[in-house]
This record gives sequence, structure tokens and C-alpha cells, in this order.
Amino acid sequence: RKSVVRITTGSQALDELLGGGIETLAITEAFGEFRTGKTQIAHTLCVATQLPLSMHGGNGKVAYIDTEGTFRPDRIVPIAERYGMDPNAVLDNIVYARAYTHEHQFNLLLGLAAKMTEEPFRLLIVDSITALFRVDFTGRGELAERQQKLAQMLSRLIKIAEEFNVAVYMTNQVIADPGGGTFVADPKKPAGGHVLAHASTIRLMLRKGKGDQRICKIYDSPNLPESEAVFQITAGGVAD
Ligand code: GTP
Ligand code: MG
Repeated sequence: RKSVVRITTGSQALDELLGGGIETLAITEAFGEFRTGKTQIAHTLCVATQLPLSMHGGNGKVAYIDTEGTFRPDRIVPIAERYGMDPNAVLDNIVYARAYTHEHQFNLLLGLAAKMTEEPFRLLIVDSITALFRVDFTGRGELAERQQKLAQMLSRLIKIAEEFNVAVYMTNQVIADPGGGTFVADPKKPAGGHVLAHASTIRLMLRKGKGDQRICKIYDSPNLPESEAVFQITAGGVAD
């Protein structure tokens, strides 16, 4: 039986909110508007995953599927230096792939899963899980097919998390929710509907605070309180 590994996010407050960090054998979804820190968390996790367990790392490699072309190797360097790690060695342990369609995204997952049988991975990032689906399926009539394909992708992610004891960190956009024409206090909700809600083990809602400050809230969890954590985006990645 595999035991859960918890990987630090770089912020103690955020780790505490998550019960110790991002968990393996689970899918963590982060959603929020642009510049709320979803991709910066991904970059920090790329480094933290490679830390030894004694430093709240995962002692493993990272697979990164990028659908938006926002991965920046340059950002990894100061984050690695913050932890006293060799940036080039850290970059070598990140297997990066850019996806251009939802089919491509799915095929990359299959390829990465094959790699995971050979080498110890502890993190799989998908930034973002929904973006290509929203591009590839636009019409209202395509909604059912989109949700079916999304469900297939997510069940593959769950399988990878469980088979290889990997943490899956995926990002998601918010969409306008007019609430059937009636006024709602929070008019934004995560994309992906029930299919995504069902697949995510834990959903994190991010929003901006003052300056580099960001606020993370547990969203819709049956077993966790709806508490919040405040963190910062710094040159060295996510911090308190
Ligand atoms: P979208 O992908 O556009 O939806 O946004 P996101 O949620 O992925 O945002 P992202 O993680 O890219 O966060 C962007 C924020 O990080 C911006 O406010 C940047 O100013 C900040 N940021 C990026 N690099 C640095 C850095 O080196 N230092 C500091 N202090 N902030 C940074
Ligand atoms: Mg991003």
C-alpha cells in the first residue's frame, strides 16, 4: 500500500491550510482569475517536489504539461537557489511538454505515464486542465462531447496519481456565472462543471490581495473547513 507524501508549497500558511502540503495520490485543483498565482505555485512545486522528504519535499521528478506556454525555466533558477539547490540539476528533473490540442494533451499523459514506470516521479502538473477543451469545443452542441473527453482525461490523471504515488496539480480558469439572470454575490465559478468538481480531491480558489499578496480558500470541500491562507509571490517563488 502506497503512503501519501505531502509536498510543501513554499508557504507555511498554505501548507497548513492543505494539511501539510500538496498530496500524492490526489488531485489538487487551483482556480482563480488571471495573475492570482496558479502558475507561480506550479513553478514553486517543480522545485519543492525535488527536495528531500526531510525538507517537506517529495524526493522525485516532475512532469509538466503546459497548455498556455507560460512555463519559464528562468523562474526555476531563483526558486532553486532559495532552497540551496543546483538550478541546472533541478531543471533536468522537470520533464516538460507543451500541448496544443486536447488530444495532444491526452497523448502526452500516456507518454508521461510510460516514463513514470522507469523513474521516480512525485508531481504531475497540468496548466491548465480546461483551456484546450474550451478552445477545441466551442459550440453549445459540443458540450456533452467536451465533458465526456474531459472526464476521460481526468480519469487518466487519477489513475496516474494512484499508480505512481504522484501528486497531480492542475490549474483551471473561472467563468462568468450569471446565476440565471439573478444577482449573485460571487459571479465567477470554476470551469469544467460537475465533471471537474467530481474529479478534484481538493479545490483551491485563489484571489489577489494587496501587492504580491494572494489569498487561497478551500472551495467546496466535504471534509475540510472553508478556511483561508494568505501567501506571497516572491522572486524565490511562493512564500509567507
Ligand atoms: P493566468 O494563467 O493568467 O490565469 O494567471 P496565474 O494565476 O497563472 O498567475 P501567475 O501564477 O502567472 O501569477 C502572476 C503573478 O506572479 C503576477 O502578479 C506577477 O507579477 C507575479 N510574479 C511572477 N514572477 C514574479 C517574481 O519573480 N517576483 C514577484 N514578486 N512576483 C512575480
Ligand atoms: Mg497561469
